[in-house]
Amino acid sequence: VSRNNLKVVLASRPAGAVGESNFRFVEAPVADPREGELLVRVDWLSLDPYMRGRMNEGKSYAARVELGEVMVGGAVGTVVASRHPKFAEGEKVLGAFGWQRYAVSDGQGLMRLPDPRLPDTVWLGAAGMPGVTAWMGLRLIGEPKAGETVVVSAASGAVGSVAGQLARIAGCRAVGIAGGRAKCDYAVKELGFDACIDYKAGPIDGPLKAAAPSGVDVCFENVGGEILDAVLRRVNPGARVALCGLISGYDGADIPIRNVFLLLVNRVRLQGFIVSDRMDLWPGAMTELAGHVAAGRIKYRESIAQGLESAPRAFIGMLKGENFGKQLVKVS
Ligand SMILES: NC(=O)c1ccc[n+]([C@@H]2O[C@H](COP(=O)([O-])OP(=O)(O)OC[C@H]3O[C@@H](n4cnc5c(N)ncnc54)[C@H](OP(=O)(O)O)[C@@H]3O)[C@@H](O)[C@H]2O)c1
Repeated sequence: VSRNNLKVVLASRPAGAVGESNFRFVEAPVADPREGELLVRVDWLSLDPYMRGRMNEGKSYAARVELGEVMVGGAVGTVVASRHPKFAEGEKVLGAFGWQRYAVSDGQGLMRLPDPRLPDTVWLGAAGMPGVTAWMGLRLIGEPKAGETVVVSAASGAVGSVAGQLARIAGCRAVGIAGGRAKCDYAVKELGFDACIDYKAGPIDGPLKAAAPSGVDVCFENVGGEILDAVLRRVNPGARVALCGLISGYDGADIPIRNVFLLLVNRVRLQGFIVSDRMDLWPGAMTELAGHVAAGRIKYRESIAQGLESAPRAFIGMLKGENFGKQLVKVS
């Protein structure tokens, strides 16, 4: 069968906000897999904030994408041809297939979908990389104890939604921060957060004081800047900050932490972490998260863009908060 591939490659590096002109679509024939390889048709592509860092010239925590190269990305696909001993035609797989319709793989880093009873997309969201990120930040750094207050920024998003629900499962008070009334209502009514503050409605200090009357014990930080500073004004002695992301600075804005003094006097532990540093913890975390999803203890929501052609626009929108829950692209 002759198939045509469509890929999204990095055309230029963004200066500030990403634009559609930073991407280019390239069509190319699909190569047949060689001995030891398999060909995957990409069904679902995950769009994630870390991809913004890969577009920059300098090194982030992972290698940059070179100009003219396919944009990196986790995806779920179907094996359409295999000369690999471990994967058979028709199987669904999870891997770093990138922003394209077809990918040839040597099987490295590929995984069969762990549980066919759950929707395919859950492995890109609540039981996939974002969920594992929430799990790791809380378990390794946040260490929430029952009765404590956990604040989560970007609370309705892929990572934040799971972080808040895990905090609730641990018996904590979960306070979200999100952009807009709809996202906050969703966090409280659907996800079970005890409160959620709309940072777009005005300064968050007053609402945060009301929502976290006993102060903040754990901060699961996805945003940085003003939001982190406001949370630091409410930290309790011995608080932990799991520094997961700083999305308010990904376009290059300076986002200083002003309340450093409060870290000192409160003996706060602030630690950054990268989910890919502990691949050993992924299988157990994924199993646990999938169990929570299957039992209805972890709920999630998805924003689905239709067709690979819509990936750049959806990615740009996600960085601006136009997504509501996990941002995906339905590729085929
Ligand atoms: N450390 C790791 O290993 C790791 C792994 C995965 C993800 N992360 C980080 O986790 C964070 C969340 O990622 P995600 O995949 O779950 O994305 P997401 O929350 O589903 O989507 C991004 C959200 O960020 C919020 N946002 C964007 N710009 C903002 C700004 N200037 N101020 C406040 N909020 C802003 C928007 O929500 P609102 O509409 O609510 O503003 C937007 O919907 C990101 O910082 C990401 O880099 C880290």
